[in-house]
Amino acid sequence: MNSVPRLYHDLAVWWPLLSSPDDYAAEAEFYRQCIVKASRIPVRAVLELGSGGGNNASHLKAHFALTLVDLSPAMLRVSRLLNPECEHVHGDMREVRLGRVFDAVFVHDAVAYMLSEEDLAKAMETAWVHLRPGGVALFCPDHLAETFRPVTSHGGHDRMLRSLRYLEWTWDPDPGDTTVTTDFAYILRDNSGVRVEYDRHVTGLFPRATWLRLLRERGFAAEVCQFTEPPPDSRVYEDFVAVRPQ
Ligand SMILES: C[S@@+](CC[C@H](N)C(=O)[O-])C[C@H]1O[C@@H](n2cnc3c(N)ncnc32)[C@H](O)[C@@H]1O
Repeated sequence: MNSVPRLYHDLAVWWPLLSSPDDYAAEAEFYRQCIVKASRIPVRAVLELGSGGGNNASHLKAHFALTLVDLSPAMLRVSRLLNPECEHVHGDMREVRLGRVFDAVFVHDAVAYMLSEEDLAKAMETAWVHLRPGGVALFCPDHLAETFRPVTSHGGHDRMLRSLRYLEWTWDPDPGDTTVTTDFAYILRDNSGVRVEYDRHVTGLFPRATWLRLLRERGFAAEVCQFTEPPPDSRVYEDFVAVRPQ
């Protein structure tokens, strides 16, 4: 059983200082275009699974009516502050059933928390059952098995008398399984002083062919689209655009 990362639990209030909504403008616009271009129907109602602190949503809500689902009550609280006009629902992307359909389903980096093929297939099934025929599901994993490299990065922000800096180190303790590990060190500063916290995120890693096979087995017409991060990182991500046939 994978334990809940502290970032989505007792440290969730620090999320906007680790990952600022402003930094998501370019990628959110890329995802919007991807969804609109691939869709065979007009896109208005969009379901996001694993919406976290709502950073992508803070940009996408100008274009779509968003329903935001997340497993973490603490992250839903963070997102509600940023996106009060969006509907928020507590749920697990593997099993949540809202009893209605949407024009598109968006699953950003939260899909990384699917650790087995079985869980990944369940998330795809959730997208399928919530999607109108002709609608598109967009999945955006952080890594694929073919292109995975250990990576170290750092960052952080200052806001309203609080500051955070982090060091993030993603590595693969066991190349024989379907997971990788990210260790985080957070330095947190507020009016009570400075402290250091440690966090570990275990996330899924699957080959491109596995993604495409699972999507096609479910009935999606699926293909890969690439997103290149703006400089200085300029990292290339492979996303999966999956259309539910009409
Ligand atoms: C990195 S955050 C997502 C941030 C988001 N992309 C944004 O734009 O702000 C990852 C989120 O995935 C959520 N999550 C992890 N497993 C989940 C599951 N099984 N179902 C729904 N949400 C899940 C976590 O609670 C966390 O809020």
